[in-house]
Amino acid sequence: MRTVVIAGGTRGIGGALAARLRERGDNVIAIGSADADLTSVRQTTRLIDRLPGRIDALVLAAGRFDQRRVETGEGLEQTFAIYVVSRYLLADRLRPALEAAATTPVVLNLSGTGGIKAGRIHWDDLQLTRDYTMFRATMQGARSNDLLGIDFAATRPGRVRYVLYNPLFVDSGMHRQFRQPLRTLIGTAAALLGTTVDAAAVPLADLLDNPPDAPLTALRRGKPVALSADPAAAARLRAVLTDLVDRV
Ligand SMILES: NC(=O)c1ccc[n+]([C@@H]2O[C@H](COP(=O)([O-])OP(=O)(O)OC[C@H]3O[C@@H](n4cnc5c(N)ncnc54)[C@H](OP(=O)(O)O)[C@@H]3O)[C@@H](O)[C@H]2O)c1
Repeated sequence: MRTVVIAGGTRGIGGALAARLRERGDNVIAIGSADADLTSVRQTTRLIDRLPGRIDALVLAAGRFDQRRVETGEGLEQTFAIYVVSRYLLADRLRPALEAAATTPVVLNLSGTGGIKAGRIHWDDLQLTRDYTMFRATMQGARSNDLLGIDFAATRPGRVRYVLYNPLFVDSGMHRQFRQPLRTLIGTAAALLGTTVDAAAVPLADLLDNPPDAPLTALRRGKPVALSADPAAAARLRAVLTDLVDRV
């Protein structure tokens, strides 16, 4: 029986994937905020310590959006904390458990890879203390996750396959996090144009069954995309995150 850890596996795309894998007999550990607050470095670290020593796949699907800038108790901007710091920690610290898998281990990171090209990493103000917008924070997260994938594959050669996957527009219910009128606008657009979470989960389950051969793959709803980010920037982000985690 495969063991699959899904951060953000209690609802939305991660929830649909969890249900699909459980139906097939996988042991799924689905994590939501009631299990561990992934905006917190301390809680994420404690969660990692409780997870099994052998994991076949790690799915990074937890996300949270806010139109206002929210700072966590550890002084991090919330989007950066959950979208970048927790994903870095989970993949980095669970690597030995993944390497112990019986099948080819996979890190499947649901992100904005290959999507909207806008957005950059604000190296001089990663916590976006100036000029915060939800869009800027989300796009910084997307570009950072590209770098997390590049760095993981470049610096940790082993059996683990790292897959960055942009599911594009999915009617997951995430619009409920927004205030009006955005909530209704995005909710209506998602219902009309978005894929259902069940449909979005199908190619994700297939990827876990048939991991790519390459150490790093970036896909936009199943289609390969080229990553333009460079390894030096990836190493720079790792250095920043290592230091940040040590200081919390
Ligand atoms: N939906 C889209 O159109 C779309 C497009 C491109 C990329 N993506 C990416 O795909 C991923 C999943 O998106 P989604 O639309 O399925 O999201 P969603 O429906 O909003 O679900 C988010 C998941 O994250 C968990 N979560 C939120 N805050 C948490 C916290 N502080 N600690 C632990 N868990 C927390 C939620 O658990 P609880 O509710 O139990 O706390 C839930 O399981 C996200 O990373 C998103 O960026 C989505």
